[in-house]
Amino acid sequence: MNIELLQKIPEAAETLIIPIFEKEAPPKELPQSLYSKVNQLLKTGEFEAKQGNYIVVHTQERIKRLFLVGLGCKLKANSNILRNAVADCARLSKQRNISSLVVMLPKLTEEEGFIIQATAEGLMLGQYLFEKFKTEKTDRKLISKAFILAKRTKENEAMLRLAKVNADSVMFARDLINMPASIMTPTKLAKVATSLKSKNMKVKILERKDMERLGMGGVLSVARGSVQPPKFIILEYKGSKQKSKPFVLVGKAITFDSGGLDIKPADGMKDMKSDMAGGATVLGILKTLQQLNLPLNVVGLIPATENMPGQDAYKQGDVVISYTKKTIEIGHTDAEGRIILADALGYAQKYAPKCIIDFATLTGACIIALGTVAAGLFSNNSELAEKLEKASNQTQEKVWRMPLWDEYTEMIKGDIADVRNISIPPKQAGAITAAAFLKEFVGNNDWAHIDIAGPSYVDIEKGILQKGATGFGIRLLTRFLINETKNH
Ligand code: BES
Ligand code: MN
Ligand code: ZN
Repeated sequence: MNIELLQKIPEAAETLIIPIFEKEAPPKELPQSLYSKVNQLLKTGEFEAKQGNYIVVHTQERIKRLFLVGLGCKLKANSNILRNAVADCARLSKQRNISSLVVMLPKLTEEEGFIIQATAEGLMLGQYLFEKFKTEKTDRKLISKAFILAKRTKENEAMLRLAKVNADSVMFARDLINMPASIMTPTKLAKVATSLKSKNMKVKILERKDMERLGMGGVLSVARGSVQPPKFIILEYKGSKQKSKPFVLVGKAITFDSGGLDIKPADGMKDMKSDMAGGATVLGILKTLQQLNLPLNVVGLIPATENMPGQDAYKQGDVVISYTKKTIEIGHTDAEGRIILADALGYAQKYAPKCIIDFATLTGACIIALGTVAAGLFSNNSELAEKLEKASNQTQEKVWRMPLWDEYTEMIKGDIADVRNISIPPKQAGAITAAAFLKEFVGNNDWAHIDIAGPSYVDIEKGILQKGATGFGIRLLTRFLINETKNH
């Protein structure tokens, strides 16, 4: 999709998206005849500009078609509501074979750049479909050309570029997550990562024998029940010439989580191809950095394996020696994510990182707590947590901070090893005790854990969401990292 900024409605425009606030007049920039038409629809109550409402209006004029989209109350409206409203229009245009359109920008309190970004992301993500395995593809035209009515300043152009790169990375991650587990194996994921190699991106894959040599007992134990060889994927992005400390991003990539010997019931296993969403998120973030050439150093670590109940599967009561030498007592083979992350978080420390941030579809308990609306945020450093919360407010990829008090660490003490991979008593504070487990492997580093089990995969088709993978976390972390480049 080609998107451009334009100051005036172009001559050839046929379709116009007009965002409108509830109980407010239409935008004054509309040509007179269209203004009166829209105004009448609002006055008669034929269209109510409530959030989520939209209608298509046909005219007898040069601009043939208007999408009126409601943003709700002006005081509460924000760029996220706009992003979703525009995405709804993009989905609708797909059904109507509309291949080019113009979007008017509403007057929100945020900087114009953010409003442009939201609009462009909405256009692109609203048209996302995963049709790789449909023999009959949607025969509808996608939008090939879109104009956003805004000043062509340097900042605005930069935000538009950010939006395009972001949306591309989000769709790239969605594709990886939506792909069936029999195709998206650890080996395949490693191949995808390797394809990101470039002048400023090194990619290294650790094989089973490398992990044996390094003592990565966590990944190796979880991989024992699977015929698929595990991979430990390392990406090193160097965007800053100085020897500045890298941000280390860690992503859980269980390419299929059957639960292992403590096998999941069918219902719980249904979407477990998506248990590598953390890894896909990290790949998406690195792809964005690479394309924007951001002046930062960032490392991505992705432990990748299946969790299967094969002949040689790891068992309850086993003791695993992790990369840091800390020992793990296995209380449940379905709490596998934290075990592979233990190795990766330990490995992260060798980079003397500025901070470590991990993404993981770690616990069902986090979905119980926050639904698919928000991810759980856990951190041993409030300054880092607040920076992530700021980026979350800016991008509206929602995170909610949860506590990590010592009492929770007490709950994961092992009987015969240092820590246990499930808590006693079980089924209490499941998202937090999982995070408390991870905390044991980060040393003194500043660290944040983002449990994306809820928002990474949804059953909703609305706004920028399609059923299946969402690509959650890429927009959030890109914003966080851009904010970081401005702090120096
Ligand atoms: N991958 C799951 C968590 C999950 C569940 C993600 C549902 C997305 C949707 C994780 O490996 C898991 O199985 N966690 C267990 C932990 C329990 C055994 C302590 C859980 O949440 O039930
Ligand atoms: Mn599991
Ligand atoms: Zn899992």
